[in-house]
Amino acid sequence: MKAVCTNFRSHVESVEFRTDIKSSGAEAPKDSAKPASGTESADDGADSPVKKEGRDPAKKQAKNPGHMIILNGSMRNKDGNSARFAGVLRTRLRGRIGASAEIIDLKDNMKDMEALADDLAAADKLIFCVPLYVDGLPSQVIRLMEIMESKPAGPHKIYVLANMGLYESSQMVNLFSAVKQWCERCGYEYCGGLGISAGELIGALMKTMPFGWGATKRASISMTVFAEAILSGRAADDLYAEPHMFPRSWYIKIANSGWDRMAKQNGLSPEDLYRKPEPAEADVSIGTAVAPDGLNADVASHAETGPTAAAAAADPEPAEGTGTAAEAYLEGIRPVTAEHAARYGEIYAAAFSGEPWNDPWDPKDAEIHVRELLESKQSYGLEYVLDGKVAGFILGTSMLFHYGRVFEINDLAVDPACQGRGIAKTLLERCLTEMKKRGMAGVNLITEAEGFLPGFYEKYGFSREDRVILMGKEL
Ligand SMILES: Cc1cc2nc3c(=O)[nH]c(=O)nc-3n(C[C@H](O)[C@H](O)[C@H](O)COP(=O)(O)O)c2cc1C
Repeated sequence: MKAVCTNFRSHVESVEFRTDIKSSGAEAPKDSAKPASGTESADDGADSPVKKEGRDPAKKQAKNPGHMIILNGSMRNKDGNSARFAGVLRTRLRGRIGASAEIIDLKDNMKDMEALADDLAAADKLIFCVPLYVDGLPSQVIRLMEIMESKPAGPHKIYVLANMGLYESSQMVNLFSAVKQWCERCGYEYCGGLGISAGELIGALMKTMPFGWGATKRASISMTVFAEAILSGRAADDLYAEPHMFPRSWYIKIANSGWDRMAKQNGLSPEDLYRKPEPAEADVSIGTAVAPDGLNADVASHAETGPTAAAAAADPEPAEGTGTAAEAYLEGIRPVTAEHAARYGEIYAAAFSGEPWNDPWDPKDAEIHVRELLESKQSYGLEYVLDGKVAGFILGTSMLFHYGRVFEINDLAVDPACQGRGIAKTLLERCLTEMKKRGMAGVNLITEAEGFLPGFYEKYGFSREDRVILMGKEL
């Protein structure tokens, strides 16, 4: 549960375990009043409606010794990752003369679970091939297990081949223990499980390369060990396989980039994903407070207090040949927050004290500079988080003119240690998209006349304004 929340950058507010809930009408067999087999329960079965003889191992005789069935328990049926893993397992089980395994898809047999349970009861070895759903078994599989539990006969040996979305395969332990408890209850022999994590990645790779190559290597090796255990009929320890040579941080970065794409498809900007249902007062005034219609009484006061002398210290785009899009490095792009003002000041001072600016900024002054902008009700900004640390930010304010509201990018700065990865480009693109969405008439900025910066901004449609000049006077 904690890991699921961590991966979704969320937190657990409360967790409630209850043993007094009856199975929902939709999923539970009509006569069942006991908790689902896959849930935590203090129930030892004493008050279960299951017939007592159903728990006697001696009475659970397989009709067909040697017969192996792989049950695909995924509701994605033949298109799912479970189906792919089931296919590979069946191939590995063919390794021995006379051995063969049949794959049965649960989804195709939902209408007559009783008949399915009878078919499964005829197997000597039954392999549940299932996805992990909410730290447990899919409800349809639980329903089938409940029906099997009520049958007088059943398969001798039970194995589990489970796959999951997240990276940490150890999370599979709950699913395995649910099946173990069910086996004890039914009188079946639990003979071991194989938990494959990052199922979506491994499943996708299996479509494009032989199983056993690249990140799929560990899953493949574990599958061989698992198949051997099944063939020999011995009970084995549970196995856990994570992607080979594919660190968790890569997996998270790739997985999160999908959210941005989906947000776009749904007419949202990626930063909308970070919106809180009921933002606190303080959040409203920082970063997201540009009124779309611009008719805000505070505009004039901002013009008096807001600093105007800042400009943009962009990092150059990725070097030719690195072939690395900014998205590949993306860990998070989200609205700026006053809590990070000190870090913004640090980045700002570091970025502007380098080429082409060479400005001797004191980070403390830079922090004040940023804070003043953040405090403006018309400010809007985004930060870019790389490896858990703010690596850059874009910040500006909007002003109302007779032709509409115009956004001015006051600061665009990237930590020199993180430059060359396209972070400025990503921040600028996002900011321009958002400003368009908010109905801005235009976006302005002041930057160095020479060097790479004019060319950098020209790529995004900015052009030099020749009707106005920036005038200044030293005091
Ligand atoms: C309703 C639902 C709940 C899920 N819960 C989890 C979970 O708790 N932990 C996890 O790692 N993956 C979870 N997943 C992801 C699936 O386990 C993962 O996508 C898996 O590869 C799907 O396998 P399949 O294609 O065989 O259905 C969940 C998926 C769904 C649809």
